[in-house]
Amino acid sequence: MEVVHISAECYPVAKAGGLGDVVGALPKYQQKAGITSKVVMPMYRTPFLYASNWVVDFKANAFMGAWEFEYTIIKEANNKLGFDLYLVDIHGLLDRQKIYGYSDDAERFTAFQIAVVHWMSHWSHKPTAVHCHDYHAGLIPFMMQHCYDYQNLKDVPTLLTIHNAQYQGWMPWAQSMLIPRWDLSKKGLLDWGGSINPLAAAIKCASKVTTVSPSYMKELMHHANGLETLIAAEKNKCVGILNGIDHEVWNPATDSYLTEHFSPKSVTAGKQKNKENICAQFGLDPTKPLFVFIGRLVGEKAADVLPGALHKAIQTYGTKASYMILGSGEPAVETAISNLAHANDHIVKVSLGYNESLSHGLYAAADFLLMPSRVEPCGLNQLYAMRYGTVPMVRSTGGLQDTVVDMGDEGGYGIRFTHASETDIVDSIGRAIEIFDNKKHLLWMRERMMQINHGWEQTVQSYTRVYDSI
Ligand code: ADP
Ligand code: GLC
Repeated sequence: MEVVHISAECYPVAKAGGLGDVVGALPKYQQKAGITSKVVMPMYRTPFLYASNWVVDFKANAFMGAWEFEYTIIKEANNKLGFDLYLVDIHGLLDRQKIYGYSDDAERFTAFQIAVVHWMSHWSHKPTAVHCHDYHAGLIPFMMQHCYDYQNLKDVPTLLTIHNAQYQGWMPWAQSMLIPRWDLSKKGLLDWGGSINPLAAAIKCASKVTTVSPSYMKELMHHANGLETLIAAEKNKCVGILNGIDHEVWNPATDSYLTEHFSPKSVTAGKQKNKENICAQFGLDPTKPLFVFIGRLVGEKAADVLPGALHKAIQTYGTKASYMILGSGEPAVETAISNLAHANDHIVKVSLGYNESLSHGLYAAADFLLMPSRVEPCGLNQLYAMRYGTVPMVRSTGGLQDTVVDMGDEGGYGIRFTHASETDIVDSIGRAIEIFDNKKHLLWMRERMMQINHGWEQTVQSYTRVYDSI
């Protein structure tokens, strides 16, 4: 079996969030299970590019509208990641420092997809399946089936994984000429609500669709940022498969970002040493419970509620706890959080930006991880937190609901709440402070969480069943 993953992100090559983690890990564990798994992604100017050796695999010209462009497929030479990694170099378009956030992202990802399909149409063999991740690869199933130049790929099965349906890659119809000569009678497959919608097109054209947790699959029928009726109509080809975590990368006993390693047996002392390091670095009191938030500061993550909620928590619980936020996103949220930190210097700290190393340090140091997400298709933070003995505090939604059992329920080890509201967050912080003082129960919860197996092995099997079915 040979699977080709197409994605905008793949850790450690380029990562903006959980998509990168998943595409860095799933293929690695598929390889271990005997599946030939490849990743194809854009060539950005990231540190990984310069720290690795590359060989040119293919070079050709393709068209995007009237623009003829040259693309080069380079392959990582030393099997560093445990699977074949291919980067698509389109000079001037993809080779930039950031993954997203440019005004020409629609052209960038369309050109990327054209190059991938053009290249695959020149292969001497056909892969078992083409596995597309999110909207950045959403036009691929359509192009394989309905672009005249790629008809030799027409029968190759395709799978779409929706990591997040909030982002759909909408393009005005004026941009339809970017897509290589296609069967105009199939216009309806590209359209959703009057614009080209790459995610909707993939839902319509892919042989099967997966999302990253069973609960999110159900939620999408009712909340899918405008795609509800489409998902409901296609429900027979949709399935929710919970993500795994790469336990080789995320292991507190070996994590290369940590100086103080620990296992379930040494969790109390190990976490305390990590907390002392972080607290010394940021000027916090290591004897208090440490609450952290790590993530994109956007509405989906309910980051806008955090400043008000933490302000109320400080009013309610005073100096009983410390709070640390790592993330970047909406400027208004960044400002509100920075102001809160400024006004409560020894209680709240913030680090704006993306910092892989600090994120590992925080999972290890924190007592509690806050995730009040409004939308959370799977969520990896809570899984990493658990692996590092950090109690997850999550809103009951999507993958959070599928992975965290409230400590009030039998065998429970986390804190769950219903609303992304200041009141629910403050009340949950109160429950957390109580459990922090009950050292025996806290230790039981930490040991319990750390031993839950969220490894990729079972997820790989679920995906294999999907490939088999198509
Ligand atoms: P999403 O993909 O929606 O952002 P996930 O929970 O699936 O959410 O994954 C987020 C990933 O990104 C995790 O690996 C988390 O540690 C990481 N992450 C998010 N924000 C930051 C940040 N500011 N610095 C470092 N890592 C971050
Ligand atoms: C998306 C989702 C997140 C999920 C990740 C990996 O970014 O927002 O919940 O964990 O993809 O699938």
